[in-house]
Amino acid sequence: MNQTYVKLNNGLSIPQFGLGVFQVPDGKETENAVCEALKMGIRHIDTAHAYQNERSVASGIKKSGVSRKEVWITSKLWPSEYGEGKTSDGIDKMLKRLNTDYIDLLLLHQQFGDYIGAYKDMEKAVKDGRVKSIGLSNFESDRLEEVLNMASIYPAVLQVECHPYYQQNALKKRVEKYGTKLESWYPIGHRDKTLINENIFTELGKKYNKSNVQIILRWHIQEGNIVFPKTTNSEHMKDNFNIFDFELTNDEMTKMKALDKNKRFANY
Ligand SMILES: NC(=O)c1ccc[n+]([C@@H]2O[C@H](COP(=O)([O-])OP(=O)(O)OC[C@H]3O[C@@H](n4cnc5c(N)ncnc54)[C@H](OP(=O)(O)O)[C@@H]3O)[C@@H](O)[C@H]2O)c1
Repeated sequence: MNQTYVKLNNGLSIPQFGLGVFQVPDGKETENAVCEALKMGIRHIDTAHAYQNERSVASGIKKSGVSRKEVWITSKLWPSEYGEGKTSDGIDKMLKRLNTDYIDLLLLHQQFGDYIGAYKDMEKAVKDGRVKSIGLSNFESDRLEEVLNMASIYPAVLQVECHPYYQQNALKKRVEKYGTKLESWYPIGHRDKTLINENIFTELGKKYNKSNVQIILRWHIQEGNIVFPKTTNSEHMKDNFNIFDFELTNDEMTKMKALDKNKRFANY
């Protein structure tokens, strides 16, 4: 079974599985992780200005030999660069750091500052070709509706904390009519042991000959979530990507709904 893609509200298809590089140090660590991911067929990298490793993402892509057009790059603007005009300059700087002339998906990282001015500049960047798709991250308050009400281009994605303890079903309903897809950060709870060791994952792992983490990642895929677990460990990377050769049953997916307890791991 091949990796899957999610069709966005602008007609583009995003690889549903990627590599996240939050907290991966700039330099060789990010460069090697990105290069290794691309060499094993992963085609989507999730970074951010705030992660301070965009330059190494770019060098990792170059080192891999995979052509730019085959790679989906997501990055995020920090509120210090929000504001009409200011965000446009921020996008130009990001393009230089990423050593590219377009960004596949650009998100507002946080719901603070002049996010309305920033969103308008992102829309302009779509129109002039510097950015292909735009979206939001961590907009869970009514600021989400504020952006949706002013948008001329609806967000293609909304990136938020999401895992079996925090399934985000209410948020998904809020954006459904705009065609906005959910992206899961902390997909395995930032490696929370209690979450990963839930009995249901262990049982299903035995049934499908997969690890508990692979069962959780497969759950995201079948939920329709876009997912990019962070790892710099080669074995973990291979395992995480090896989730396209089995399928959880409807009954198993239903049972996992019971794990939802509105529990977040991050306090931001
Ligand atoms: N928009 C936002 O505000 C926001 C916030 C947080 C994260 N994100 C994005 O979401 C991505 C994922 O989130 P995250 O990195 O914080 O959390 P995560 O992917 O849920 O967990 C990462 C942790 O799990 C470990 N891990 C990965 N695969 C494993 C496996 N197969 N077995 C055991 N352990 C494994 C990693 O360690 P090893 O490296 O040792 O494998 C790391 O410690 C980030 O990289 C970033 O791109 C976005």
